[in-house]
Amino acid sequence: MSNLSLLKNFPSSFIFGTATSSYQIEGNKYGGCGKSIWDEFAQRKLDGIDGLNACNHYEYFEEDIKLIKNLGFKAYRFSFSWPRLFPENNHNFNKEGVDFYQRLLNKILEHDLEPFPTLYHWDLPIRFSDIEGWENSDTCKHFADFSYFVSHQFGDLFEKIATINEPWCVSWLSHYLGEHAPGKKSLESAVSTMHNILLAHGMAIEALNSNRSHQVGIVLNNQYAESFDQKRENLNATKLFDSIHNRWFSDAIFKGAYPEIALSVLEKYLPKNYNHDLKIISNPIDWIGLNYYTRSIVKFDESENGINYKTQRGSLKKTDMDWEYYPEGLSYFIKRIHKEYNDQIPIYVTENGMANDDKLSSNGEVNDENRIEFFNLHLKEILNCLNEGFPVKGYFAWSLLDNYEWAFGYSKRFGLVYVDFDSFKRIPKKSYYEFSKHLL
Ligand code: FCB
Repeated sequence: MSNLSLLKNFPSSFIFGTATSSYQIEGNKYGGCGKSIWDEFAQRKLDGIDGLNACNHYEYFEEDIKLIKNLGFKAYRFSFSWPRLFPENNHNFNKEGVDFYQRLLNKILEHDLEPFPTLYHWDLPIRFSDIEGWENSDTCKHFADFSYFVSHQFGDLFEKIATINEPWCVSWLSHYLGEHAPGKKSLESAVSTMHNILLAHGMAIEALNSNRSHQVGIVLNNQYAESFDQKRENLNATKLFDSIHNRWFSDAIFKGAYPEIALSVLEKYLPKNYNHDLKIISNPIDWIGLNYYTRSIVKFDESENGINYKTQRGSLKKTDMDWEYYPEGLSYFIKRIHKEYNDQIPIYVTENGMANDDKLSSNGEVNDENRIEFFNLHLKEILNCLNEGFPVKGYFAWSLLDNYEWAFGYSKRFGLVYVDFDSFKRIPKKSYYEFSKHLL
């Protein structure tokens, strides 16, 4: 049986926290929130299973912040909902929305937790669909204005802020693979979005800092790329996968350039002035967030559009998402950021966790042993990195609550706390108590 007794070996300055996102927990039917691309996608593609109620964090946020405090955690990563703050248009903010985030931030601070807000975790206001969303660089300008607004309204209540959560998901997953809103399947759309979402990040840094000085970061999801075997064609396919999924974003941010291997296939879809934009995209950041879940096994697969690979799962133990446990990948990326990109940048693991087929027992308990094992294996990797001197500063468990897991609706449970989606009752799981036992 696993436990988390290794937590006592972390330095006292190390920040443990938990992460959530607005659309996944808040409940968009409350507080005058406007519609986002996820509401529309849910109607069109997910049989109407949407985030209208989610965990009703809008009304239950005080209880949720207490739950974080009682975990022994020191920080809370959450996201601002753009459609909650600007439901109708880009000019008139929703007072109820502003009040909500004000109350939330005050509650976080009252509990002596550090807020780690994110400006964009995928709930783009639906009105932007009229201008093709992130495919249109005008959306970047609107995002910069929104960033300024957030800094102006709430900027005295937090130090660190992230611009974008997982640009790969915003672009490739949502515009090439079609699995997330808006559900497009076009390489051209994907590449415009891969560029614009980074441009939005760079412009947001300028907008935030024009109001006041913030410690700005971005959150990247890295997926470990394992070649199927040592054949040259599979090794090359793996490099292409890595450069599209991972390096595209980190090269642009840290080096102000896109990786050559990806460019050989994607450059024709980039805007003409993309090199100019890369100067904005590579505006210096103060910290980097790394979300890490799993690996992919990559094989050559010829395709007309040049995306010559396909991925498959291996034979390692899997989570309820069918994602393999591959903790080694976490330390691989921590070291890679430090050695290949920036040896000064503080690294925060902003998401890591697992979906488990959790069941509430008749005596009201949730025994999620698998999750304890998963956390233990990944925290071990971080501890090794710390012992080797890598600047990992914090770790955020995904997630506080079972929530709306995007295209999977409410069927995948990632929380430290079980949620009954009818009554909104919160029930801490065994993994929750295992953290608090060692951290409090
Ligand atoms: C990440 C997302 C987060 C959640 C986890 C499981 O890609 O940032 O919202 O869905 O995966």
